[in-house]
Amino acid sequence: MEASGFEGSGRPFAVCGDELCCSGVGLRALAQEFGTPLYVYSGDQIAERARLFQDAFAGRAHTVCYAVKANSALAILRLLGEMGCGFDIVSGGELARVIAAAGPERARQWCGRVVFSGVGKTAEEIDAALAAGILLFNVESESELELLAARAELLGRKARFALRVNPDVFAETHPYISTGLSAHKFGIAIGLARAVYAQFRDHAWVEAAGVSVHIGSQIRQVEPFQASVDRVVALVRELRADGFDIRFVDAGGGLGIEYGAAEFDAAAQVSRYAEALRSALRDLQAHLLIEPGRFLVGQAGALVSTVLYTKRNGEKKFVITDAAMNDLIRPALYQAHHEIVPVMQVAGAAAETVDVVGPVCESGDFFARDRELPELEQGDLLALLDAGAYGLSLSSNYNTRLRPAEVLVTGGEAKLIRRRETYEELFAPEMV
Ligand SMILES: Cc1ncc(COP(=O)(O)O)c(C=O)c1O
Repeated sequence: MEASGFEGSGRPFAVCGDELCCSGVGLRALAQEFGTPLYVYSGDQIAERARLFQDAFAGRAHTVCYAVKANSALAILRLLGEMGCGFDIVSGGELARVIAAAGPERARQWCGRVVFSGVGKTAEEIDAALAAGILLFNVESESELELLAARAELLGRKARFALRVNPDVFAETHPYISTGLSAHKFGIAIGLARAVYAQFRDHAWVEAAGVSVHIGSQIRQVEPFQASVDRVVALVRELRADGFDIRFVDAGGGLGIEYGAAEFDAAAQVSRYAEALRSALRDLQAHLLIEPGRFLVGQAGALVSTVLYTKRNGEKKFVITDAAMNDLIRPALYQAHHEIVPVMQVAGAAAETVDVVGPVCESGDFFARDRELPELEQGDLLALLDAGAYGLSLSSNYNTRLRPAEVLVTGGEAKLIRRRETYEELFAPEMV
């Protein structure tokens, strides 16, 4: 791919000299220094994307609560927390990450910007979040609300909650990451929500403070966001008429990015999204929470790997890399497309059609099938683009493989933010 192929792509990866760079830092030297497979992220782009959302909602009370699940690296949480972002967490582990990223002096403040989502919160996780003083529990069922009330009473800490309502809005995306239809496990049917709020009206230990919604991930059109927030706003007005002091509207995350070769204007996309939400909210006075994940970190990251072997089986040519499905599972799990680019750009290289696969013992362990790439040899470096979201955070140690190291590039400087694991660390919790 030529350098021009990246212009207007919204990615921080571009050719500088004869190699692919991340925000101006060459990937070859990073691969040499830290080894492969290696995740490389542009901290500059992550900050820029967060600022796009913050600016788009300027003039309206709002908090950008980064969805930690997209990429939970402590250094990325630190970067976003320092910009004033909050966090959308889905487990006690993610809460512990926010606290660790904040450090002791800021933990209380940063936890005050945390919303806790998820359909299966345990009593221990609820207790930890109550103790940390989080902003809002996004409650997904009546029985969860009963447990929250009981734990809050036991701990003597009042809990603010929003019901996560299921608006029954369809959004075009992969079925595994669509969440806003009544057929999905998420949330409480919007038609039933008012009655659930009413049941807990006079409870001493839980306070209805918001309404939340999240309709899915990798959604490219803004209309479904507008439709779902429209329904939430109608519910907020009813609840206020019922006497509830509803102060927060949580519109969830889900804004999609470009994984293909098409042009992508992130700023224009955020402004369309903000316009859709603003027109749904109209004159409603409420503190808006949004939970973007993928949009902040997805295009900022690439997975750099080394070609171990190439081989032919019949008609097919395979390029076998040292990265595998355990490092980046999106192609295997969602049939997701990732652009693949050689790190070293060779002018006039012949193209060939190959399958790019990993070393794991599964036929599903592939990154691309029948992909046209410049001819590759053993030892060549490849970058799998747009791997910053749901990459390392969805990785595993399958086949007892060590997960990749991670590097963050900020202001022209590359820093290791996660070193490669060791076998000793992998075996540490086990007993023979
Ligand atoms: C409740 C909630 N909020 C936010 C997100 C982040 O979604 P995305 O990374 O698509 O912005 C998710 C992910 O599915 C989610 O479940």
